[in-house]
Amino acid sequence: MPFSPAAKALFVAAVALPAVVLASDGPMVPNYEVHLQLDPTVVLDSDYRLTTAVIEEFAMPTTVTKKNVQYIDTVDEALDAQGWSCRIRNIENESGFDLTYKWRLDIDNGDITTALNTAYADGWNSGQGNYAAQVDWYLDMQELSISRDYTASSSGYSGTDDPTEADSRTMLIDNAPGMFDDWVSSGWGTTELESGVIYGPVLTKVSVGTWNDVELDIEIWPIENSAGTGIDYLVEASFKTDNYTFASVGITQLQDLLTSKGWFLDASNSKEALVLANYHPTS
Ligand SMILES: *[C@@H]1O[C@H](CO)[C@@H](O)[C@H](O)[C@H]1NC(C)=O
Ligand SMILES: *[C@@H]1O[C@H](CO)[C@@H](O)[C@H](O)[C@H]1NC(C)=O
Repeated sequence: MPFSPAAKALFVAAVALPAVVLASDGPMVPNYEVHLQLDPTVVLDSDYRLTTAVIEEFAMPTTVTKKNVQYIDTVDEALDAQGWSCRIRNIENESGFDLTYKWRLDIDNGDITTALNTAYADGWNSGQGNYAAQVDWYLDMQELSISRDYTASSSGYSGTDDPTEADSRTMLIDNAPGMFDDWVSSGWGTTELESGVIYGPVLTKVSVGTWNDVELDIEIWPIENSAGTGIDYLVEASFKTDNYTFASVGITQLQDLLTSKGWFLDASNSKEALVLANYHPTS
């Protein structure tokens, strides 16, 4: 069964372009990632793989890349309450674990400029070259994310195994950047991570294709349902661009294509938010 569509806020897509700031001390300049969901009952075959029609439409190879994803937060989601998430991924055939510290802010009514200014007032500026700002653009919501990546050793692990709870805590504490660690008070982030637990893992599969001359990814996420009684498949198509207009026009064009094929799912889910909501670790 597909995820039911999230409750919808009226979303106004037509807004002013964020001003491009060239100074090193000004609001961050984001890129854009457009996310649309596909109906898993239509686009997946009985083995939960993309159908040939989808693979051919986007000129995808039949091979997929596995990414095993887990999030670390406290049992009461103290990091999430401050807009932070800590993600660990083991990507097939890449060495080391991929660590991401990400801060998020809701964008209201498509007003990206106000979100960037709010983030600037909170200490995020264009001079922070180790961080990347991105507008995650869903069917009927947008979020600003600011993230920083690290690689940690996966020595002792094999395949796409993700680290244990103890190792996850240690590697996230050891790499914690100052913006995360001192967000609430000095050492806040690492103190919370000491009691961090695993949300997930979710063994995802990514197919990489092309649409409108840009890379189009389709990810399949088997996520536990909220009752914990089974798995729901979330299938998401996404593309990235630096160009606001391309994102804005493209989300409608891609939606139209998916709709014409009968593949479109009228839902707006952040994958990370679903994992946090549906997994209930207690340790
Ligand atoms: C990973 O490596 C294995 C063994 O070389 C290979 O069979 C597989 O296709 C590779 N997977 C990807 C996504 O490159
Ligand atoms: C941005 O995308 C629009 C729509 O595809 C295109 O017309 C425009 O040339 C692009 N601008 C840049 C700077 O690439």
